[in-house]
Amino acid sequence: MTETLLPRFDPFAPQAQAHEGGALPDGPLALGPSGYTVLTYDLATTVLRNTRFKNAALELMEQFGITDGLAHEFRANSVIMAEGARHFRLRAPMARFMGPHTVQEIRGIVREIVEGIVADLDTSAPVDFHTGIDQRIPARIYCYLAGAPAADEPLVASLSERTLSLLQRDRSLTPVIVNAYAELFAYLRALIARKREQALGDDMLSFLIGQQEAGKLSEDELLNEAAAMLEASSVNTSHQTGLVVWTLLRDRDTWRRLVEDPELIPAAVVEAIRLYPRPGIVSKVATEDIELNGTIIPEGSDVHVAVWSANRDQARFERPTEFRLDRESNSPLTFSTGSHGCLGQSLARVEMEEVVRYLADQHPDALVVDDGTEIGQSGGRWLVKALTVNLNPV
Ligand code: HEM
Repeated sequence: MTETLLPRFDPFAPQAQAHEGGALPDGPLALGPSGYTVLTYDLATTVLRNTRFKNAALELMEQFGITDGLAHEFRANSVIMAEGARHFRLRAPMARFMGPHTVQEIRGIVREIVEGIVADLDTSAPVDFHTGIDQRIPARIYCYLAGAPAADEPLVASLSERTLSLLQRDRSLTPVIVNAYAELFAYLRALIARKREQALGDDMLSFLIGQQEAGKLSEDELLNEAAAMLEASSVNTSHQTGLVVWTLLRDRDTWRRLVEDPELIPAAVVEAIRLYPRPGIVSKVATEDIELNGTIIPEGSDVHVAVWSANRDQARFERPTEFRLDRESNSPLTFSTGSHGCLGQSLARVEMEEVVRYLADQHPDALVVDDGTEIGQSGGRWLVKALTVNLNPV
C-alpha cells in the first residue's frame, strides 16, 4: 500500500480517543500530521520488538530545541537509546535490582509505606489520593532502592515529573525540562559523593558505584544509569497507580470480588492498565526504510504506537471495552515489549498490587469522590489530574 492510501489519523488530536481501538476501517496503519500511527495489537507488537525502530525521546528533545548540554547528552547516551551489546551492558546492572528477590522484598515495604502515609492523613474526610498517596509511593521506593534518605522523596517525585514532562509534547516546558535535568544530575552527584565517603551498602546505587570502580561502567555511565532509573521510577507509576485505583473503586462488583478474594488483585491490576494505560502512546523513529504492513516507512519517520488502541483491539481481546478478570493470557502493551520493554514493570506491578491490597484489606468500603476527581489525557497519555477518595465512608 502506498502512503497516499493510508487512512488519516492524528493520535494527539483530542478526538483521537474517540476511536474505539484496533484497526481503522481502512487498516491498522495510519498517517497524519504527526507521522505514522500503529493501531492494532499485532502491528504494535511488531514495531515495539523491532530494534530498527528506536525510541523517539532524543528526537523529541531536539524538536524542542534541546540539542546539546546535559539533558541532551544524558538522553543520547541513555539505556533507552542504546542497542546491542551496549544496551545489554547498561540494562544488566539495573535489571539485577528488578528481579524476583527485590520485587518480593518491595511488597512488604510498599505496605509499610502506605500504612505510614495513610496514618498521617485525616481519613475522617475524603483524601487527596494523588498528591497524598500515589505520588509518594514510587518516589519512596526509588529512595529505598537507591539507598537515598526517605526525606528525598518529594524531590525525587518532582524531578521525575519535571524531566519526563517532555512527553507532554508542550514546547513551553523546555526550560522546565532543562533545569530539571541540571538539578537531577547535581542531586545524584552529591548522593554518589556521599556514598563514596561512607561505606557502600547493598543498594542499587552502591552496586552501580562498585561497577564503576571495577571499570565496568564509566563515571558518566554511572550517573546516566542512576538518572535513568530516577526519571523512570516515579511519575508513570504514580499516575498508573491512580488510574488503577480509580478504575477498580468505581466498578463496585469487581471491587467486592477483590475484597473477598485478594488473589484476584494481580489480574485486576493488569486489566486496569490494559484499559487505561498511562503511556497511551509509545513513539519510535524508523532508523532506516522499513516495510510495515505493505507500506515502506521511510528512514527518519515518526511512528507512534497507539498502546491504548492496541490494548482495546477486538482482534486480540474479546469484548475489549469490558473490564474482565477472567481474560486468558492478558498481556497489554502498557509496559511496551521487546528488548526495551519496561525494566521496572515487575516492580511497578507489585507497587500497584500492594496499594490495592492495602485498600481492599483496610478500607473495603472506599469510594471515589467524583467531585474532586479528574482523569484526562495529555500527549496521548492517560493522567490523573485529581483523585479524591473517601477511605472510610459512613
Ligand atoms: C506503571 C509504571 C510504568 C509504566 C507504565 C512504564 C512504561 C514504560 C514504557 C512504555 C517504556 C518504554 C519502552 C520502549 O521504548 O519500548 C519503559 C521503559 C523503561 N522503564 Fe518503565 N514504566 C513504568 C515504571 C517503571 C519503573 C518503576 C521503573 C524503574 C524503577 C522503570 C524503568 C524503566 C527503564 C529503565 C526503561 C528503559 C528500558 C530500556 O530501554 O531498556 N519503569 N517503561
